[in-house]
Amino acid sequence: MTGTIDIAIDKTTKSRVKEQDVNNVPFGKVFSDHMFVVEYADGKWQKGSISPYRDIPMSLALSALHYGQAIFEGMKAYKNEKGEIALFRPLDNFKRLNISAVRMAMPEIPEELFMGGLLELIKLDKEWIPNSESGSLYIRPFMIATDEAIGVKASDTYKFVIITCPAGKYYSEPIKVMVETNYFRAVEGGVGFTKCAGNYGRSLFPTKLAQQKGYQQVIWTDAKTHSFFEESGTMNLMFVVDNILITPATSDTILAGVTRDSVLRLARDWGMLVEERKVSIKEIFDAHKNGKLQEAFGVGTAATIAQIVTIGYEGKDYELPPVEQRKFSPKIDQALRDIRKCRTEDKFRWTMKVV
Ligand SMILES: Cc1ncc(COP(=O)(O)O)c(C=O)c1O
Repeated sequence: MTGTIDIAIDKTTKSRVKEQDVNNVPFGKVFSDHMFVVEYADGKWQKGSISPYRDIPMSLALSALHYGQAIFEGMKAYKNEKGEIALFRPLDNFKRLNISAVRMAMPEIPEELFMGGLLELIKLDKEWIPNSESGSLYIRPFMIATDEAIGVKASDTYKFVIITCPAGKYYSEPIKVMVETNYFRAVEGGVGFTKCAGNYGRSLFPTKLAQQKGYQQVIWTDAKTHSFFEESGTMNLMFVVDNILITPATSDTILAGVTRDSVLRLARDWGMLVEERKVSIKEIFDAHKNGKLQEAFGVGTAATIAQIVTIGYEGKDYELPPVEQRKFSPKIDQALRDIRKCRTEDKFRWTMKVV
């Protein structure tokens, strides 16, 4: 028994962790020893199990592959110098997974199943958590439709899985982004606010085109007018203009990022003026022209704080103030790291210790 739920645990007899330098592995390529799996069938979630990480057999008619019922989350566990381990706001990811599930006509997962499996998995694979300054264990919970059937309908069966992998810095350098005004990521009434796999699939072609032009990422704009900023890659977008922190308000076209919310709450707590609203491309470039645009950066679990140094728009590159001159984003980056690594007071009770 673990906590309030019963999980079958099959521990590996041969850990692979010693074969790795967990502080130095490429992001998303090396997976830790165990995985948590639970099936949904006969209208309910079944007993969960933790077993050695491995491939799973799959029908070629798997419903998720054809009709796209596939959702996921991204969160992290941190280890500090003393070896203390903490998850950062895991309940927010749990809630967001269920928001995605409802929109995609998939079953919601109970909190005790999600959290019970997660905590047990992290305890088992704690040796995989990097303790370097920018290191963490990236956690990927996901749910897929598993009916073996051709025919468009919501599946009757699902699989919920959690896998993890050691992670370092996502972007090693400040980034160059391009404002996308031909393609769009999300529409009102659509699924932009969810983490369904299709949102990422559809982003790949425009991102590839931007990368061919020398940018790392696109900044999405609203589908109707392409004149308001939305978000960028797997990050929410923030600007500091005239000492005010400005970010697009969340809506059904923008993912409500956990990092976004954390940054905004810290900023408000520090007494900074914060504006969550529609942010037009024009006002940001006007601010740039008038010397009032001080910072632009993306915020997200994988990327943490990614400094934006160049924004390409309609064939022209706009160079932003150098990172060394920026005051707010480096300070928030450090503050978040200190909270996540349990080195400072956790005023908002964001961390959940794993013991
Ligand atoms: C599209 C998108 N926007 C924003 C974010 C940032 O969200 P979070 O801070 O919860 O990681 C992510 C990452 O999950 C994302 O995929």
